[in-house]
Amino acid sequence: MNSKTRALLTLLDGQPVIPVLKIDNANDAVPLARALARGGLRAIEITLRTGHAIEAIRRAAAEVPEAIVGAGTILNPRQFEEASNAGAKFIVSPGLTPALLAEAAGSEIPLLPGAITPGEIMAARDAGVDFLKFFPAEQAGGAPFLKALASPIADVMFCPTGGISEKNATDYLSLPNVVCVGGSWVAPDRMVKEGRWNEIEALAREASRLKNS
Ligand code: 3PG
Repeated sequence: MNSKTRALLTLLDGQPVIPVLKIDNANDAVPLARALARGGLRAIEITLRTGHAIEAIRRAAAEVPEAIVGAGTILNPRQFEEASNAGAKFIVSPGLTPALLAEAAGSEIPLLPGAITPGEIMAARDAGVDFLKFFPAEQAGGAPFLKALASPIADVMFCPTGGISEKNATDYLSLPNVVCVGGSWVAPDRMVKEGRWNEIEALAREASRLKNS
């Protein structure tokens, strides 16, 4: 296992689910991160899918010390840099490009990049990446697909995301090559918009009790 993977696993600290967040209003970042942390999900991924994502990362990172704020949907080195300057402790990308790899090599911040096919996974492995996001998990073949990779490519770990909820999370978490899953189900858009933080905390608590093997 490479040292940045070890650092990322230390940050995740056995957390089975990483909330994948799309924050439309930066004012929601702090109460949302606090609610998720109260529910036991300290590591969160704020995706760059809205114009307010960088500000949301900045606020959550500065004002919620109990949260471990990561940035997601990072597509290029510029976004990697913006997110790390805003305080992101880890970076998630749906895929892996040579430019992102080079940026990550020059940074202390761990990168969790995406890969799906055996060829993509082998290329990532050759580049020294041994912990990957598997996205979009359900659409790409789901838990049976990942299970089939565990034997031929046994030394790569995954965080599947995309189409995962409390209903199928355990199918993934029970696989030997899955460390954790990611998903937006713990912070539904509507609950966030309506500021229903206690309900989000309850969803997080349930998710935090899912077991990874
Ligand atoms: C991601 O970026 O990880 C996914 O879009 C999350 O997918 P979900 O909304 O289906 O959980």
